[in-house]
Amino acid sequence: MDPDPIEDFCIADLTRNGGTLSCNYGFPCKPLSQVTSEDFVFSGLTKPGNTTNLFGSAVTPGSVDFFPAVNTLGLSANRVDFAPGGILPPHSHPRATELITIIHGKVLIGIITSNNQVFSRVVEKGEVFIVPRGLLHFQYNVGKNKARTYTVFNSQKPGIINTPISLFASLPLIPDEVLVKSYMLDTNLVQVIRDKFAPAK
Ligand code: GLV
Ligand code: MN
Repeated sequence: MDPDPIEDFCIADLTRNGGTLSCNYGFPCKPLSQVTSEDFVFSGLTKPGNTTNLFGSAVTPGSVDFFPAVNTLGLSANRVDFAPGGILPPHSHPRATELITIIHGKVLIGIITSNNQVFSRVVEKGEVFIVPRGLLHFQYNVGKNKARTYTVFNSQKPGIINTPISLFASLPLIPDEVLVKSYMLDTNLVQVIRDKFAPAK
């Protein structure tokens, strides 16, 4: 739910302004005289991401930082690939509702509401699942084969808070005691989990 556009479009010039948003509205526009049809096409979602990682999943982003044409238009898309058994762990997008389309495979998708209620279902090819803005959600490939989804957001920059990484591999790290007390963990377990993320950092 980004602000409404005030021009037909505004292809982001990511090189100006130090590559940061010029205001809460968007990036500065590339001059119209330099805009071509190519600017409206993004090929970044055509190839599968590398799922050889701790979670067996790969998010290929299509937010404004990667696809400058969505600047000021209030939407963007990701591609998510899953190895068999791969998971996209519980995460949330602070600035967007998300529509997940299953391209192939069988994916268990779940949302967790602010009342701690869970709504989940195995979603199959061609079906879509809606994730309301800000809610924790997960995607888990429960099929025997690879799976692929496309996710569309009503924000050019939805943001992501990926709970395992946010909590156990933040920069700087949050104090171990916070995690020990919050999750009632043995002290050494926090380090065991942190060590798994270390090579990925
Ligand atoms: C999927 O949930 C994604 O955030 O792309
Ligand atoms: Mn998501």
